[in-house]
Formats: sequence, C-alpha cells, structure tokens
Amino acid sequence: MKRKPPVLIERERILKRISELGEEITEDYQGRDLIMVGILKGAFVVLADLARFVDLPAQIDFIAVSSYGADTRSSGVVSIVKDLDLDIQGKHVLLVEDIVDTGLTLDYLVRSMRARQPASLEVFTLLNKVEARKVEVPVKYCGFDIPRVFVVGYGLDYAEHWRQLPYVGILEEDLIDR
Ligand code: IMP
Ligand code: MG
Repeated sequence: MKRKPPVLIERERILKRISELGEEITEDYQGRDLIMVGILKGAFVVLADLARFVDLPAQIDFIAVSSYGADTRSSGVVSIVKDLDLDIQGKHVLLVEDIVDTGLTLDYLVRSMRARQPASLEVFTLLNKVEARKVEVPVKYCGFDIPRVFVVGYGLDYAEHWRQLPYVGILEEDLIDR
C-alpha cells in the first residue's frame, strides 16, 4: 500500500476539464433552481471543485449508496445508506458521480430520483468507463472517458485508501490484495 499509483490523469488536466464543464452547467441552468447532488463518498472531491466553477445560486446535497464492497468488483447490489436532506420535487437536479463503470449504481439512483419528480435530472461524471457498461445511463456531462483499468484518487478509493490523491492514478495489479 506504500508505492503511489502512477498518474493516469494529472491534476491540471482535471481542473481544466471541470472548469469547462462548470461553465457549461452555468449556462445550461440560468434562471433555474439547481441542486447538485454528490454521490458519496467518491464524489466529494469532484463536487467540491465543480461547485466552485458553477456561477449560480445552486444548492448542494449528498446521497450515499453502498455498491462496492472492499474489493474491486461491482456487486450490482445498490442501497441508499444516507438519503438527501433536500426535497427535489420540481427542482433541477444534477447527480454528480466520480465514475460510471457498469452503470448499475447510477441506473438505480436515476430511477429512484425520478420517482421524486424533479423538474429535470441530469448526470455529471468525472470518469467514464464506457467499455464496462452493463446498463445504459444518460450521462450529460463527462470529464474523461477511460479504459477498463482500476483507478484511484480524486475521491476514488481502493478499500478506502487513496481517495486523497490529487490526481487520478492507476491501481496496479500488485497493489490489489486478493
Ligand atoms: P458501477 O455501479 O459499476 O457503475 O460503479 C460505480 C461505483 O463503483 C463508483 O461510484 C465507484 O465508487 C466504484 N468504482 C467503479 N470503478 C472504479 C474504479 O476504477 N476505482 C474506484 N472505484 C470504482
Ligand atoms: Mg462511488
């Protein structure tokens, strides 16, 4: 667990991309009641950055779901372990994710958020593993498409480690406990 994961996407590129998307969101949501919902824990870093590039009187909330265990495989089992504090009915909701892998987590969340009748619901993700998709999810704002490698940093973890890395790194095979 000591050696640092090699860089896949460096901090400067990430911030530049998030700032571009923040400007796009600022234009798209002019005059609307926007709630940005970070999906915990992974999205805490990207939402903190994104929020500061969105020049609107937006509200922020968080939801926590359990999907991954302590390993690198998707269980497909999703449950809400911390619900929203805000009522999203009639509001414009932007779900903010760290990464979309199989799509199972977002598919579940999008459906359960839609049931609460927001005025609109869109998805932002920093990273997108397009080739790993099992169910289609509507991603409107995407930072980077990445290959099917296990990444950590910028909020993403391996067994709760490495979330604090200021870049997206690749977790090499020999660092994974099996
Ligand atoms: P999905 O349900 O398979 O799309 O997985 C979504 C969740 O799995 C993300 O919110 C992450 O928490 C986790 N995840 C997927 N791929 C990775 C990865 O490469 N590194 C760290 N976490 C990941
Ligand atoms: Mg996550």
